[in-house]
Amino acid sequence: MTAPQPLIAGNWKMNGLAASLDEARAVAAGVAGSAARVAICPPATLIHRMSEALAGTTVLVGGQDGHAEASGAFTGDVAAEQLADAGAKLVILGHSERRAGYRETDALVAAKVKAALRAGLEPIVCVGETIDERKAGRALEVVTGQVRGSLPAELAGTTFSVAYEPVWAIGTGLTPTTPEIEEVHRAIRATLVEKFGEAGKSVPILYGGSVKPANAAEILHADEVGGALVGGASLKAADFLGIIRAL
Ligand code: PGA
Repeated sequence: MTAPQPLIAGNWKMNGLAASLDEARAVAAGVAGSAARVAICPPATLIHRMSEALAGTTVLVGGQDGHAEASGAFTGDVAAEQLADAGAKLVILGHSERRAGYRETDALVAAKVKAALRAGLEPIVCVGETIDERKAGRALEVVTGQVRGSLPAELAGTTFSVAYEPVWAIGTGLTPTTPEIEEVHRAIRATLVEKFGEAGKSVPILYGGSVKPANAAEILHADEVGGALVGGASLKAADFLGIIRAL
C-alpha cells in the first residue's frame, strides 16, 4: 500500500479580510521542510489575492464550496471554474455547515465533486455524523453512507481526500477519543477500497473538528489519519503551524 502524503488544510470559513493575508504569508514562511502538503481555504473574496501572495511557496489555496454548474443564473454562487480561475487548486465540498445550512444532499455534493474535477480542482469531501446519530449508535452507518453517496465514480484515478468531521466536534472544543476516530477512519478506508479498489488505500482521510496544537500530535498519528481539516485554529499562523509541526 502506498502511504498517502498527509494533507493539512485550513478552512477559514467566513473569516478574513485583506489584512489576514499576512497570516497566510506567515504560514508559508514557516512550513519549509514539512512532510505534509499544506493548504489554506479562505473565503472566495480572498482566493485571488492569496494565490498571488503565496505564489512561489508550497502552500496551496483552496475554495470552501463550488457550484455544480460551470456558469449561469445562480446569484451569489461561485463555480468551480471560477475558483480555479482565481488560483484555487483544491476545494472543500460537503462541509456539514453546507449540508445543514443549505440542505446539501449526498447527490448534490457528488455533482459538485464532478464539477471540481471538470475544473481541475482537487476535492476535499467532508462527511460526519451529528451527536444524535452517534448517540443512536449510527455513526459508522451515516458516515459510510455519506462516503458512498458523495464520492462519484469519476474520482477513480484522481487526487482527492475525504475529511471525517463529526458535526458535534466542529467549533465546540470537543473531540472524539483516538479509538473513536480510528474506528470511523477504518470504516471510511474500507468503503474507499470497496469503491475504488487498491487506489482507495492511498486516499488521505483527514480528521476535522476542534484540532488544536495541543491535540494535533495524537490525532495526526492515529491509525488511518492522513492529515487534518482545521477551522478556528487555522486563522492564526502560529496555531496552524503548531498543528503542521505536530505531524
Ligand atoms: P474547527 O472547524 O477546527 O473550528 O472545529 C473544523 C471545520 O469545520 O472544518
